[in-house]
Amino acid sequence: MKSYPESIMPFTDGQLAQYEEQGAVTIDTPFTPEELDRAEAAWDRLKQTGGKPYEDPDFIEVVQHPYFEAVAKKVLRAQAVHLWWGLAPHERAPASPPYADSQDQWARGCHTDIQATIEDFEATPRRMRAELWFWLNDVPANRGAMRILPGSHRHVMEYWDQVLTPEHKAMLPRVHGLRPAPVPETAPAFPEHVPDLRETPWLECEPTPFVARRGQVLVLCSAGLHSAWQNEDTVPRKAMGTSWVADGVSCGLPKNQRDAVIEFFPQLRSKLCPDRAHIVPPDFDWLFESNYDPKWPETFPQP
Ligand SMILES: [Fe+2]
Repeated sequence: MKSYPESIMPFTDGQLAQYEEQGAVTIDTPFTPEELDRAEAAWDRLKQTGGKPYEDPDFIEVVQHPYFEAVAKKVLRAQAVHLWWGLAPHERAPASPPYADSQDQWARGCHTDIQATIEDFEATPRRMRAELWFWLNDVPANRGAMRILPGSHRHVMEYWDQVLTPEHKAMLPRVHGLRPAPVPETAPAFPEHVPDLRETPWLECEPTPFVARRGQVLVLCSAGLHSAWQNEDTVPRKAMGTSWVADGVSCGLPKNQRDAVIEFFPQLRSKLCPDRAHIVPPDFDWLFESNYDPKWPETFPQP
């Protein structure tokens, strides 16, 4: 496997522009129905057995496919990229009725995962995590399609640009889950939150369901507001996710997530084809620890 040829890349400049404006875009992939069958069977196996994903050759086949690396390079405007995260098959299992209504789900689930500034996002290479959700079965709206508030990523990152101290900006991008107020006192981030920045409060906005066909990929910037959604179908939503960052960009993770990456990556790397091993870095000098404490006072302004 060599690099993915730019000329047949099914990820257009227009789709990249959508990612930049809206923070999310669903794109096609080159996987054949047979390849998707193999990937879905691996997903089923891993869910059934609870086995380690890196020990399943069909899972490895997906992770190391050059297409994802090529998409990440284009998203991040980078010459070279590597994995930041991507540990396990992801499931959104069917929920049992009675179902919560949409407003309640959004009010409960709406959050951001990555904290970064708009300057980080607009840099070349982009200092952002490129999150690729690879769908192994169809994702209609009622099968737990992710809800996203298009464009919110820009407002939120502009806000971080305005309020964070230079010292704290130097510690981005980082995984730091935040949500609009009210934040439960039991949440690790409490009392940090994403303040309302537009006329309509975030929790009263209507998010968009990002539906997809089997074999498509959701390219997500999770610095914007989004939410998991209940699956009202009878079958699970099946995904494999990888997250990428440009070479040379330092990334923050809470201690437990950083520990997981440090344990998982060498094992994953040992299973990759030699000409694909570069997608998993051999060291961790790019990965710093960034916890919920000590708090940054700029992140919990009083209303
Ligand atoms: Fe999230």
